[in-house]
Amino acid sequence: MTANKKVHIKTFGCQMNVYDSERIAETLAPHGYGETERGEDADLIVLNTCHIREKAAEKVYSDLGRIRSIKAARREAGLETIVAVAGCVAQAEGAEITRRESSVDLVVGPQSYHHIGDLIARTRRTGERLVETEFPSATKFAALPGRPSTKAAAAAFLTVQEGCDKFCSFCVVPYTRGAEYSRPVADIEAEARRLAGNGVRELTLLGQNVNAYHGAGPDGRDWSLARLISCLSKIDGLQRLRYTTSHPRDMSADLIAAHRDEPKLMPFLHLPVQSGADRVLAAMNRKHTCEEYMALVARIREARPDIALSTDIIVGFPGETEEEFGRTLAVLERVRFAQAYSFKYSPRPGTPAADKPQIPEAIKEERLRCVQAVVARHQAAFNESCVGRRMQVLFEKPGRRAGQLIGRSPYLQSVHAQATESSIGSVLNVEILACGPNSLAGTLTVAA
Ligand code: 5AD
Ligand code: SF4
Repeated sequence: MTANKKVHIKTFGCQMNVYDSERIAETLAPHGYGETERGEDADLIVLNTCHIREKAAEKVYSDLGRIRSIKAARREAGLETIVAVAGCVAQAEGAEITRRESSVDLVVGPQSYHHIGDLIARTRRTGERLVETEFPSATKFAALPGRPSTKAAAAAFLTVQEGCDKFCSFCVVPYTRGAEYSRPVADIEAEARRLAGNGVRELTLLGQNVNAYHGAGPDGRDWSLARLISCLSKIDGLQRLRYTTSHPRDMSADLIAAHRDEPKLMPFLHLPVQSGADRVLAAMNRKHTCEEYMALVARIREARPDIALSTDIIVGFPGETEEEFGRTLAVLERVRFAQAYSFKYSPRPGTPAADKPQIPEAIKEERLRCVQAVVARHQAAFNESCVGRRMQVLFEKPGRRAGQLIGRSPYLQSVHAQATESSIGSVLNVEILACGPNSLAGTLTVAA
């Protein structure tokens, strides 16, 4: 079907949303929608939203204000615009969005994307404003179409698991994404084969709690993430596998062993610790202590000594004392993460920690600055340790300078090198010659 209407999809938040946005675009294609980068040209604007921290949710409302003007200008020109809010803000706020923003025609939660096309057709036809945020049975994935065979990217995401049963006391995910659900192995394998056939060389398996994966295998048993990785590693053409995000409690022995035994599994692991203080970890309902996390890190490094570790840190959780914050700095010094994301605690309505007395904003800011300074030092040291090494780089796209490509090292660093565009999609040997705070630069070598 040729596209006669245009959809503009704006994505906020995590990689799961990036993946979902691609699937929304695919679901809408048979309804006659082609993608556009410009909201002004769009018959349909979809905001795929994030609710994890307050700022992310606020951005959606400020964007909707801007979209209201676009919609009005288009109406003056005799053009209709449908505005849909998808994602976690849609799930969490539901009809509140249509009440607050007159321009919104449709609110659709992550569990309902499989029929977003029908919902949009209905609102266009009848003018009804629809809110679809039920948690139906876990059939969402089965109903989504396969990926079209035209898109060839070197690296792609593949959602294998959704939702979370952990209920960390700061986090909205169990409420917005619902209970944990793992896709069946056969579906994932079929999608991975299709992607590999389209030129994808690296797959990142996604899930809010990806290492809790326990999908139905073809043998009728539940398979672990390690077993899934071993199965996917046999697909020709796929050269690299990654997965994110993991919970320390679900880092099983077979998954740790996969980092030792499975050459296609890249030596990088994002393993949020959140805090270094046991009292705070308990109040966060993280279900691990600092020493348990350290012991886990030791086991992972024993299995794969060169693994690059990444983490998430929250500063200013309710009740966090200076001494407890010091423990977070201490765990950073002990692990020396290759990269880390850090956040000021942001109270999310409906989560247990939101009702507790809050730490003043100025203290949160100061603590965040401290964490970021330590992380930047460790990241720089890790990048410097790569200079002079040879590593395999998967080239993904042209760089800013002429003749330059950008790729990823096994450790997920961006690597710049002079190479022709025909190298996009290839894993090549690169000698690292220099580094910056966030990237490496190198030159292609003939042999490893
Ligand atoms: N405030 C601050 N950070 C949060 N995160 C999740 N919820 C909150 C919150 N309420 C962070 C955690 C998580 C990452 C995805 O976002 O560190 O691992
Ligand atoms: Fe949120 Fe905790 Fe689940 Fe991660 S494990 S999604 S932080 S509740």
